[in-house]
Amino acid sequence: MAQENRLTVYPDEAKTKINKEIYGQFAEHLGHGIYGGIYVGENSDIPNIDGYRTDVVNALKAMKVSVIRWPGGCFADTYHWKDGIGPKDKRPSIVNVNWGGVTEDNSFGTNEFLDFCELVGAEPYISVNVGSGTVEEASQWVEYTTSNNDSPMTRLRKKNGRQDPWLVKYWGVGNESWGCGGNMTPDYYADLFNRFSTYMWGAQYKIASGPNSNDYNWTETVMKKAMRHPNLIQGLSLHYYTIAHNWSNKGDATGFNEDDWFASMKKTLYMDELIRRHSAIMDRYDPQKRVGLIVDEWGNWFNVEPGTNPGFLFQQNTMRDAVVAGVNLNIFNEHADRVKMANIAQMINVLQAVILTKDKQMVLTPTYYVYKMYSVHQDARLVPMNLKSASYTYKGDSIPAISSSASVKDGVLSITLCNLDPEKAESLECDIPGVNYKEASGKIVDGQSMESYNDFGKKPEVTMKDFAVAKPKNGKLNITLPAHSVVLVQLK
Ligand code: AHR
Repeated sequence: MAQENRLTVYPDEAKTKINKEIYGQFAEHLGHGIYGGIYVGENSDIPNIDGYRTDVVNALKAMKVSVIRWPGGCFADTYHWKDGIGPKDKRPSIVNVNWGGVTEDNSFGTNEFLDFCELVGAEPYISVNVGSGTVEEASQWVEYTTSNNDSPMTRLRKKNGRQDPWLVKYWGVGNESWGCGGNMTPDYYADLFNRFSTYMWGAQYKIASGPNSNDYNWTETVMKKAMRHPNLIQGLSLHYYTIAHNWSNKGDATGFNEDDWFASMKKTLYMDELIRRHSAIMDRYDPQKRVGLIVDEWGNWFNVEPGTNPGFLFQQNTMRDAVVAGVNLNIFNEHADRVKMANIAQMINVLQAVILTKDKQMVLTPTYYVYKMYSVHQDARLVPMNLKSASYTYKGDSIPAISSSASVKDGVLSITLCNLDPEKAESLECDIPGVNYKEASGKIVDGQSMESYNDFGKKPEVTMKDFAVAKPKNGKLNITLPAHSVVLVQLK
């Protein structure tokens, strides 16, 4: 007998806000993440606004990009921000030691990043250099960008053409300090965090470098030490990537089979356990949930595309990425009481990107359409739900076939659903007790196969289309989710 899928949602009980920052991006000086992807310079023959690609600016605005983390990643702990300000012909070139050993000419620096965020309407999130930087550098970076006082750094900012401070709320204090950010112990890092944070006057929301996936001891130690001075810490980061196989062979982004698909889905669902267990530790030191868990690196990490620079982390993006994105975003929504921001790695041309570019061409990936679809959840209230899902069983192993989350904003109920089964459609009975919605509409991100993707110079195989949904009757609704699809249903 076929298993039954049943979803009950309680819009009357919506309370927790889903921060728009959960729909955030990460842009590092890595491969063509910045140069060629965002920035081409004013003299480029690629259409641009002050050097920023016009096509990319428009696409990010349409997707409602909420926050962008910059300049890294591992790059951040090698970056000295003063190299990237002032007249461009006077900026020193450096070597990007982490990513391909290429020359970085520093033409995209602090002013360029913050002006770009203003242009696309995103909050900036800056990661300061703890690994090879100084407290003074970090403190002066905050002063240069956010201060209104008359001071050496604000005078420098004005000399560089910017009178008013920018709004920079989010500050990361180091990146992966357990790894490329200095190979520190949690104890040593926690002391450094407190020291840096003390002198970053004017930084409103300071995010400590958090654990590598299931390193619960890191969370325990940093929370314990940082919470002795609770005003120093507002966020703790978490990094967890979906690696279908292992670090030496991560699996390919295209040309995969159901073994690879199933592995990606199962490993993505592990995000829920990670958030629950890190949150439980944080709850002991911060029961009011004042400190946010900031998942500022996540997404699929595959082998690089054949023939591309291995240091550039360029990978294609298929329907598998769309479903992985949808499942992760549903998980973050469900934990919106603790997860205050999440940044997919990375925005353009790197890892699970929303946009790929090649010279003048731009491709919007399946992941892009999921972000566009899910933007309805930004700053909405999370709707409690009960999901009873059938299983997707493969070679004797089982995971839930459906992932879901729901929110309400301006009287509109939005339910996002993913079908993790690559072969089988799932019918879902949905109950909405208490509210009498009269109209229903839907959108779908789907492709012919689990491997469908969009490529340069070809008609897109995956986009967002209308999805027919019957009107609810007596608080009930039936939805059929095609195999390997991501769906939005809206009721009002
Ligand atoms: O996103 C690519 C890299 O992955 C980042 O630079 C680093 O923080 C992580 O290990």
